[in-house]
Amino acid sequence: MCGIIGYTGEKEAEDILVDGLEILEYRGYDSAGIALCQADGSVRISKCAGRVKELRALCKEAGFRGTCGIGHTRWATHGGVSDANAHPHQFGKVTLTHNGIIENYRSLIQRYGLEDKLHSQTDSEVAAAVIAHFYNGDPLAAIRKAVLKLKGTFALSIIFEDIPGAIFAVRNVSPVVIGRAVQGSMLASDVTALGQYTKKYFVLPEFHVAVLKKEGIELYDMSGEAASWEWMTVDWDVDRSGKGGYPFYMEKEIMEQPEVIGETIASRIREGIPDLSGDGIPDSLLADCKRISVVACGTAMHAGLVGKALMQSLVRIHMDVELASEFMYADAIVDEDTLVIAISQSGETIDTLEAVKYAKKNGAKTLAVVNVRGSSVARASDYAFYTNAGPEIAVASTKAYTTQLAALYLLTGRMAYVRGRFGREDAERFAKELLRTPEAIQAVLDRREEIHYIARSILNAKDVFMMGRGLDYSILLEGSLKLKEISYIHSEAYASGELKHGTIALITEDTPVVAVVTQGKLQSKEFSNIKEVQSRGAGVILFIKETFDMDRNASWDGVFRLPAMEDGFMVMPASVALQLLAYYVSLDKGLDVDKPRNLAKVVTVE
Ligand code: F6R
Repeated sequence: MCGIIGYTGEKEAEDILVDGLEILEYRGYDSAGIALCQADGSVRISKCAGRVKELRALCKEAGFRGTCGIGHTRWATHGGVSDANAHPHQFGKVTLTHNGIIENYRSLIQRYGLEDKLHSQTDSEVAAAVIAHFYNGDPLAAIRKAVLKLKGTFALSIIFEDIPGAIFAVRNVSPVVIGRAVQGSMLASDVTALGQYTKKYFVLPEFHVAVLKKEGIELYDMSGEAASWEWMTVDWDVDRSGKGGYPFYMEKEIMEQPEVIGETIASRIREGIPDLSGDGIPDSLLADCKRISVVACGTAMHAGLVGKALMQSLVRIHMDVELASEFMYADAIVDEDTLVIAISQSGETIDTLEAVKYAKKNGAKTLAVVNVRGSSVARASDYAFYTNAGPEIAVASTKAYTTQLAALYLLTGRMAYVRGRFGREDAERFAKELLRTPEAIQAVLDRREEIHYIARSILNAKDVFMMGRGLDYSILLEGSLKLKEISYIHSEAYASGELKHGTIALITEDTPVVAVVTQGKLQSKEFSNIKEVQSRGAGVILFIKETFDMDRNASWDGVFRLPAMEDGFMVMPASVALQLLAYYVSLDKGLDVDKPRNLAKVVTVE
């Protein structure tokens, strides 16, 4: 978590840094700060608990100037939310910002006698102190020596008081991207913050030190030898990073789904069938594996659950979906016959990344389904399927999730074809229906005010239950997470048949229930289960495939008819409907939809 940014060049750095922090704020938003190198060599820091807009006001008041500086937006790990714990941290001649966790900070405090010398409770200040300890005029040597003492994950951007105009950066796991921009050099935690200035960037290799100067960039390995890098190109439209007239990124990102899903799918249908050759994914990868394990977290894991249902029914292959944070600690069984699919929007989620490394160590083939190009998970995996969601800024994932679903449909379709479960005609039919998803989603979006109206019935609920069977259950897990994270309403998704094994004890007239019914073969069982909760007084909001009959005599708290697709594809329009439900509840409660409390977009700590 946390976002870091740095600029050195011809221009005043303050606005460039603060604007960049505003873009990076989704990575953490409990405090923010910048450090500027003044013309006289001194380093001046402005930092405060609170949002970047508060930092902007503080900077204006402080009036520091400088053409070189670093900035940070924080998601608290070590040390509470306070001005003192905000970054940058200064120790001696060293000022730095840090993203990650220094796990051995306690032993470093003892070893370097720092007990009474620190001003914050952060592990980051300890890193500054260790670098300062080794610094005697040679910054590269000091960084190299210090980094070898640090255990944990880190992306550090560092300035030295007696080397004005230079920013040093080093990392382990946590990301740093670097580019030439605004008549100078820039670094950031991710490309969205650079994208408005340059399309060319490179990913700082782990355990290398980059030196950013006005005139250019240098890179050194740990032995001090000059190293080279590989330029990459930002391949998404920078305009997509703005709110586009919507009050929140989340609404804009929900509305973008027909387009980005269309892009994700259309570029992978060739001669009428799913074809992943453009992604460099060989058919042998899909044909030869004996089982699949998905590793992912949160929303991405929920996408995996939909993938499991598809793969098992259409490909008839055994597939597990594992929480990445549990995967290796559960001694997961993977071998050379296992295909491990890592799903991640950011490609930086540390648990997912570590799970990929574990899988590779155990001989598995790894395939990343990732949104951010060149991200750590993509680079660590043998193959990458890039979803075309474009930048996703709202903390609550929407378009990244549905493009992940699209990717899983494509993988399923191709796998079924290369393994002989689909003949050519089956594959064509599958692809044709998949290509209809943008129009089905658009039909939901066009009627979003109906969902807005329905959302009002759960605005004041304390607990909401969600129920469905099969694929409907899989997407309700995600719908429930969405509601929890942005509306702060406690919500639980239940497989309808499981409710009466305990949880139905909680159902009363005060616990609204959201039910999704889109699977023909499960329809009648589902309605029996709905009756069971209605009999206990619960009001039910029903999302139902428009071609299904429903009990018109029953009373509903709201009904939304979902545009009809084949049952296996109904998760697409239904998922979007559930996203809108959560969005409108949060909006009408007057919450900060894009930045829910306690969360950060990119989870780079275990
Ligand atoms: C919830 C949400 C998170 C992420 C999870 C994994 O809306 O966005 O649950 O899905 O933190 O993140 P990525 O996909 O970046 O690995």
